[in-house]
Amino acid sequence: MRAKIIDGKAVATQIRSQLKVRAEAFSARCGRRIGLAVILVGDNAASKIYVRNKIAACEEVGIQSAAYYLPSETEETKLTELIDTLNADNSTDGILVQLPLPKHINARSILERILPQKDVDGFHAINAGNLLLGNPCLPACTPHGCIELIRSTGVPIAGKHAVVIGRSNIVGKPMALLLLQNDATVTVAHSRTQDIKSITKQADILVVAVGIKEFVTGDMIKPGAIVIDVGMNRGEDKLYGDVCFDEAAQVAGYITPVPGGVGPMTIAMLLGNTVTTAEMHNA
Ligand code: GUN
Repeated sequence: MRAKIIDGKAVATQIRSQLKVRAEAFSARCGRRIGLAVILVGDNAASKIYVRNKIAACEEVGIQSAAYYLPSETEETKLTELIDTLNADNSTDGILVQLPLPKHINARSILERILPQKDVDGFHAINAGNLLLGNPCLPACTPHGCIELIRSTGVPIAGKHAVVIGRSNIVGKPMALLLLQNDATVTVAHSRTQDIKSITKQADILVVAVGIKEFVTGDMIKPGAIVIDVGMNRGEDKLYGDVCFDEAAQVAGYITPVPGGVGPMTIAMLLGNTVTTAEMHNA
């Protein structure tokens, strides 16, 4: 194998230990723990696992989590009322609504209901807009985690050609903006892109967030590239990324594994946003 493995678990562990120190300092200064509310509507199996992992991570760094498990038939107004209550609660520093929401609920209006300063996912239009403008904001957790993983290689981002596959509001779009902010030359490819291989072959940094198991094969990768795999596709036997790891690892310079790459970083960045917003609003 040629590629160095980017160990997301190890990078996340280091970040979490720094956050623990900040969370303890907050508790000592403010006389309460930093608070994160996590809302899950319905019983999506993957969402339940993500929420469980987020709550366990809060515990580890000393953030007080409050989990709200609502049935899938919950009316939008009930969810709105809960968010309003949490918005007004001074001991709730961050609010997270796990996506996807059931189809009868308008996810956009729910996300916009969360106060921007409590929007630790960075999904509110204010945070997304400030990211676009290069203003201070709570950035979306997964792309922020990807940037930290790229930084952990020690390879400078400035001037590199970064290709993002995927254009979702959660990953692809904010990822492209963060790479641009780091002075990369950015190309966004997606499901309608023609001859995608000719584009990915040019990528010094390739971030893959298409949600298709092993979409990127070894022949699509530039030798020595940094490959960040955001995919989490449940197969019969195990979790698969959006990148065919065995092939890619023969060509790339650095690669993230699935699991143990981007996933732990998403949670570390969520905790980071929660600590940051708590500190900012209790200065
Ligand atoms: N669903 C998939 N990824 C995410 C995420 O980062 N945050 C939330 N709230 N829901 C998600």
